[in-house]
Amino acid sequence: MEKIIRTSPEYADLPTSYTVAGIVIQPNIVLAPMVGVTDSVFRRLVLSLGGCGLVSSEMTNAASVTPKALARHHQLDFLPEERPYTVQLSGNDPQLLATAARAVEQLGANILDINCGCPSPKVTGGGHGSALLKDLKKMEAVLRAVTREVSIPVTLKFRAGWDDDSLNYLDTARMAEAVGIAALALHPRTRAQLYSGLAEWSRVSEVKQVVSIPVVGSGDVKDAADALRRLRIYGADGIMIGRGAMANPWLFQQIAQLRAGDALFQPTPADKLALLTRYLDMCLESMHERLALNKLKQLIGQFSVGMPHSAALRESVHHSATPDEARGHMDRFFEPSGFSFQSSALNNEVELLSC
Ligand SMILES: Cc1cc2nc3c(=O)[nH]c(=O)nc-3n(C[C@H](O)[C@H](O)[C@H](O)COP(=O)(O)O)c2cc1C
Repeated sequence: MEKIIRTSPEYADLPTSYTVAGIVIQPNIVLAPMVGVTDSVFRRLVLSLGGCGLVSSEMTNAASVTPKALARHHQLDFLPEERPYTVQLSGNDPQLLATAARAVEQLGANILDINCGCPSPKVTGGGHGSALLKDLKKMEAVLRAVTREVSIPVTLKFRAGWDDDSLNYLDTARMAEAVGIAALALHPRTRAQLYSGLAEWSRVSEVKQVVSIPVVGSGDVKDAADALRRLRIYGADGIMIGRGAMANPWLFQQIAQLRAGDALFQPTPADKLALLTRYLDMCLESMHERLALNKLKQLIGQFSVGMPHSAALRESVHHSATPDEARGHMDRFFEPSGFSFQSSALNNEVELLSC
């Protein structure tokens, strides 16, 4: 059911929701799937701060998704407060993906998303992710097999093409709609770009012109004004935020505040320390100490970008051997010293292993 989203006259013309085959996504600001990041802990952290309408699992290889494997490893588990919940799968074998899709439906996910955008050589080397942009016939076979198999809506996340000489985002979008895909998310870089240059958002507008299913734009959204500006200029149905959510998990809340005409929450150093501490505690509750520490290190890599002297924080946390040692470094860094934090940059130096 649609809620009332408070909107100031300045933003009254912007959509506040979109619908994926009957599932209302509201607000229309969603957390991007991110391997190694968007596990249940991070999703719940973001959702608890408000303003996020949809979350997704990390991209998961369809070959590892069977009812038996899911019962044993719990890697796609979620809590009721995460609904509507999307599971994202990768793969290129229609039969295997159909089997995995059924397991995802049985798990109770609301939406199944197929990844045709991941640029990592490990993924494209196996013909998955953005490699499918080089073979739309194969992509079509995959999408057809999956949409036939399940009754939950299937969505597609993709890039603009393999490289500048093979831009095929319009053909991909048309084909996806024709086989029954319920919504699209476009990260409008090419595979060849990886994370360099800028996401060319005019491509999102172009896709909007050729399909009638919802189109969500992904890439480079860094602050609240930027998000609402892109929603307006490019006519997207929704905005997807990845690295910006790691740099500033309050971003979704701030977008809602800007839309409502309220003052934006400005986290103090104490708020930032409390958030990182909460994240670490939540990780420690649900995973091994070493993994929890690694998760903290990864979040800090983006969270601290733009903070004065933050290289020292990253360095010291990265060299911490235990969560308590990392806590000590964070406590010292964030103790009241009056610095201000401008979240104006996204870290484009994403490891090639990430999607
Ligand atoms: C660390 C990391 C992991 C990612 N993993 C995935 C993934 O699992 N599936 C996916 O579709 N995209 C993945 N992406 C791409 C993001 O979903 C998003 O499209 C891209 O980062 C551009 O948006 P941003 O500028 O808001 O980060 C990943 C990106 C990053 C930085």
